[in-house]
Amino acid sequence: MYVLGIETSCDETAASIVKDGARILSNEVSSSLSFHKKYGGVVPEIASRRQLETITGVLECAINKTRVKLSDIDLVSVTNGPGLLGSLLVGISFAKSLSLGLGIPLLGVNHLYSHIYANFLNAADAVPCLPFVALIISGGHTSLFFVEGFDKIKILGSTQDDACGEAFDKVAKILGLGYPGGPLIERLSRKGNPRKIRFGCSNTKEPLDFSFSGIKTAVLYAVSGKGLSLNEKRDIAASFQEAVISALIKKSLLACRAKGIKILVVGGGVAANNRLRERFYQKARDNGIRCYFPAQELCLDNAAMVAGLGYQLFKRGHRSDLELAAELN
Ligand code: KG4
Ligand code: ZN
Repeated sequence: MYVLGIETSCDETAASIVKDGARILSNEVSSSLSFHKKYGGVVPEIASRRQLETITGVLECAINKTRVKLSDIDLVSVTNGPGLLGSLLVGISFAKSLSLGLGIPLLGVNHLYSHIYANFLNAADAVPCLPFVALIISGGHTSLFFVEGFDKIKILGSTQDDACGEAFDKVAKILGLGYPGGPLIERLSRKGNPRKIRFGCSNTKEPLDFSFSGIKTAVLYAVSGKGLSLNEKRDIAASFQEAVISALIKKSLLACRAKGIKILVVGGGVAANNRLRERFYQKARDNGIRCYFPAQELCLDNAAMVAGLGYQLFKRGHRSDLELAAELN
């Protein structure tokens, strides 16, 4: 079964063709990042206008990179939330018109759940066995889930303020690095001392929730008014990154213990971070837990994960109709 995935929840315009929920035949992503850079973050109006302009071309590329023709597509699966409203509407409207024009079913899928599904794509190794605990760390969300099935996912905890990726982006801005901050903080940290400054993430009322706004403010205090050398900046970046990773590991292992689960699945843009991946693998191993990450390029927003999850849900009887609306939360 060939599924076309469409993803436009934030600044990317993405289309992908996935066979039987597992094999990626094409995975095209066009980002409007360069248009947002000078504003230090994504400007929703610019994102949705760029998506309108590029979505047809992105679909054409996704089709042309395979032997599959538009008429071979069996299902169109589209992200219908959470995300930026204007951006989501571009993808949803486009998917509806394809569904109507080609006479094929339409399915709206949740963006965060599709990040979890990235772990099931092009997997060289064995894929995670259900049930498992999933940690999604992205620019807009930080959440722990208990996954019993692709249509049976319960939230265990989430951030009470900033998302994890948002904290990386804000700290990068404080350090004068640019946007998006995650990869820049990772690069700067490589030559820094992660034990130089003792940053920590604030406690939360619920043990499986997260908080990242306090650590961002702590970095601001450590930086403001000081003319920092490159080495001092490296130490701040490395210490910040280490503290965030420690908090994510602690809560993830706590969730696994609470649910009596030995499988931990991670996804979302921040999961591309090499230091984070290394430390998760090691800590999970120390605790007898098997940890899974998607390939790095599948951590970031893409449409293959949308097509893959769509396939699984379609097989379980899920369908959308032309009333499909954007869901912001
Ligand atoms: O999942 P994603 O592509 O989009 C959302 O759904 O938000 O995640 C984007 C976020 C950004 O905040 C970006 O700074 C962060 O992921 N990110 C990273 C890395 N690569 C991307 N954070 C830390 N280290 C990285 N290597
Ligand atoms: Zn995402």
